Amino acid sequence: MLKVGLVGCGFMGSMHANVYSAIDEATLVGVFDANQEKGKAFAEKHGIKAFASFEELLAEVDSVDICLPTYLHKEFTVKAANAKKHVLCEKPMALTVADAEAMKAACEENNVRLMIAHCIRFWPEYAMLKQIALTGNLGDLLSINMTRYGEFPHWGSDNWLADESKAGGGALDMHIHDTDFALYLLGAPKEVFSRGTVDEKGVSHIFSTFVYDKAVCHLEGGWNMPPQTPFKMAFRAVFEQGAVIMDGGPMTIYEKGKDPFVPEFPKMAAAGGGNISDMGGYYHEIKHYVDRVTSGKPFDVTTPETSIESLQLTLREIELSKA
Ligand SMILES: NC(=O)c1ccc[n+]([C@@H]2O[C@H](COP(=O)([O-])OP(=O)(O)OC[C@H]3O[C@@H](n4cnc5c(N)ncnc54)[C@H](O)[C@@H]3O)[C@@H](O)[C@H]2O)c1
Repeated sequence: MLKVGLVGCGFMGSMHANVYSAIDEATLVGVFDANQEKGKAFAEKHGIKAFASFEELLAEVDSVDICLPTYLHKEFTVKAANAKKHVLCEKPMALTVADAEAMKAACEENNVRLMIAHCIRFWPEYAMLKQIALTGNLGDLLSINMTRYGEFPHWGSDNWLADESKAGGGALDMHIHDTDFALYLLGAPKEVFSRGTVDEKGVSHIFSTFVYDKAVCHLEGGWNMPPQTPFKMAFRAVFEQGAVIMDGGPMTIYEKGKDPFVPEFPKMAAAGGGNISDMGGYYHEIKHYVDRVTSGKPFDVTTPETSIESLQLTLREIELSKA
């Protein structure tokens, strides 16, 4: 049984706490949040302990789940690693590649595991798209269009997401999901083009094109839509022999010579609020982390190296957008 301590009980902390209650091989021992009142209320709700400090939490767990604002990921990961605790840390890994490298190095030096929570690699529809590309059942992938946008995430504690020096802007906080998935699906692009809307929060709406030898990938990500704009997460992948489309409806596979097929994915209700209504991807992600840590097997969906690559590429897109 993996004893887990959660740090940060905001939007993502709530989501992760709900997921642990569905995983038999892990137990959520307690939580630490700088806002003690919030931490206490959260602990009561989940029937766990509220720790008064991170150090006290570290003393009672095997693994730490970091759901803190991005600018704190490095500090807490390095502290946890030095205390010989495994780390699951929310994406993006850090604000800079140097910080991300330091997180990876600290975990390696202390012989503890580190996984960055790039949930889209575990999201059922995206995971199936990856399998379709891998098997080649529809032929080679020719192009993919990925979209992710919504209103500004107003739920962040102390409005930290509005501060570019803490969150990195919409491109780093939200669009990185699709950059990371493009890397998973197609590898490193040969050429990168990016333009976007830059405002006081950073790059708030980005359009990128990744060029590959045989494919092209177009991405749009933004968090500057008007209030009440529904959150949108969509893709359209065109293969030699068909297309896989998730855009406002269930993911549908269109294969030449066959009727369209809608795969069924069991839904797991999420109670975390924000813009997420399905726990599915987070469940698969955390289950993978727990299974791999308890069995000692390596992570093979997302690794610190792939998370550094997605950070590096997203920072490049941001640089191009600001040029
Ligand atoms: N994977 C996803 O789909 C997804 C979605 C949203 C956010 N995130 C990521 O999750 C992380 C957390 O985002 P969030 O939306 O949950 O933020 P949030 O503001 O809702 O929650 C952060 C929590 O951390 C606490 N906190 C702040 N400083 C602290 C400190 N020094 N010590 C202890 N606690 C402290 C706050 O009180 C708050 O409860 C970010 O890196 C974000 O990018 C991922």
